[in-house]
Amino acid sequence: MKIDVQLTTARKQKPASDQLVFGKTFTDHMFIMDYTAGTGWHDARIVPYQPITLDPASTVFHYGQTVFEGLKAYMTKDEQILLFRPEKNMQRMNRSNDRLCMPHIDEEFALEGLKQLITIERDWIPTAEGTSLYIRPFIIATEPYLGVSPSKRYQFIIILSPVGAYYKEGINPVKIAVENQYVRAAVGGTGNAKTAGNYAGSLKAQEVAEAAGYSQVLWLDGKEKQYIEEVGSMNIFFKINGEVVTPALNGSILEGVTRSSIIELLQHWNIPVTERRISIEELYQAYKEGLLEEAFGTGTAAVISPVGELFWNGEKLIINDGKTGELSTKLYDTLTGIQTGKVEDPFGWTV
Ligand code: COI
Repeated sequence: MKIDVQLTTARKQKPASDQLVFGKTFTDHMFIMDYTAGTGWHDARIVPYQPITLDPASTVFHYGQTVFEGLKAYMTKDEQILLFRPEKNMQRMNRSNDRLCMPHIDEEFALEGLKQLITIERDWIPTAEGTSLYIRPFIIATEPYLGVSPSKRYQFIIILSPVGAYYKEGINPVKIAVENQYVRAAVGGTGNAKTAGNYAGSLKAQEVAEAAGYSQVLWLDGKEKQYIEEVGSMNIFFKINGEVVTPALNGSILEGVTRSSIIELLQHWNIPVTERRISIEELYQAYKEGLLEEAFGTGTAAVISPVGELFWNGEKLIINDGKTGELSTKLYDTLTGIQTGKVEDPFGWTV
């Protein structure tokens, strides 16, 4: 399929690199293609960034048939554009599509569209420390129909946003409340798909936690509310007595690209890392015995987000004196170093 390109005649003012926040500014162009049942994906185009017009009966507004991805582009010192494992995002998007009864994309073609868009927008890639161009591909169901069944029409769109640090604290530790009332996902649900409903359903817990002075919540499993799943919208890791532990993928946990990369990086360094079930009770015991050395969330947006305090059952668990741990720092520096081309990439992750 050919990609039509229509360039804008009114380029926007770019924000200063040191004033970037997460996800508020968008570049001059976007990529779109349409899907019609029977025809497949068609009309791929790069057009000026603009509002989209949809029928108010579009399925996405009523039943949430939508998936999204998040990845980043970086500019190296010698002005090369780097993407970090973008094929993983395209593969995951198709797994999400399966779960939401949405059509597959051609992963290679979508990546080609993304590369063309980014090449056009290369001047939007910020270069200051901790900044990048956040890429948000997403698919929405656009058939005007109020029956509950898979839409016959979709749009795939990629928008770009120059971003600074996700948390205003930067790589400073955040305070997290263990969530005992609400759940994010249950096995058999949509927790392992990147779909809007998971995030909409998480807002209430976050709002309550924020009102109590916490940045985010630690999610427990949907059945027994005993086993640790994720933190906020990120995967979670703990360093307990020299071993790194992260909840095993069980069907309700999102398979993060950063999560996989951290596991591979730890294995490469010969640091013991295990994917398994871990209960909040076990974590508490480890803390009481002085064995809980570090905790950190991992995700594309924040990369590594150390946890300095966990609030559970009326007790504050202060981890590593509330400071960023040595391992968290090393992982953050190495991963962002690889992503920005400052550190050698022994895995061939960057494209
Ligand atoms: C990420 O950590 O990259 C996320 O998925 C958060 C995103 C929804 C902003």
